[in-house]
Amino acid sequence: MKTVAEQMKILGAMTRIGGTFDDFFAQSAFEIMQDAALLSQTGFQQNEPSNEATRAKPAIWADGSDFNARMTRFLADIDAAVLAEPTDLASFIPLFAVVSENCKSCHERYRAPKN
Ligand code: HEC
Repeated sequence: MKTVAEQMKILGAMTRIGGTFDDFFAQSAFEIMQDAALLSQTGFQQNEPSNEATRAKPAIWADGSDFNARMTRFLADIDAAVLAEPTDLASFIPLFAVVSENCKSCHERYRAPKN
């Protein structure tokens, strides 16, 4: 789960992109996210947490089908963003918005609130 969390932090870094658009940076960030999301997916599939500090809800493993579908959609949205190779802010923003939608909707359902 540690790896998952670390990779999720890298994904989080993506949200800090703003201001001047850098197509190389955006492309790299989407590619890093792609790797990180794949690692997260594997991590969630393999590690059912013991009782160490995790905010991942047991529902992820109780009935994984919805969670897995969300993870698959998340990966598909990132793939689409990577393939689109945005060249300016106008083409980047909608792609980023679609990818970001996944974060919130999955967290709302599967991530427990902070203690
Ligand atoms: C399919 C579900 C899912 C998607 C999509 C998802 N996350 Fe998460 N994320 C989780 C779960 C579950 C946790 C809680 C993991 C834990 O506490 O062990 C988490 C934890 C995190 C954390 C906290 C990591 C830590 O150190 O505790 C960050 C940051 C994060 N996600 C960012 C993102 C961002 C940014 C995106 C979108 C770009 C995203 N996540 C997409 C399920 C998801």
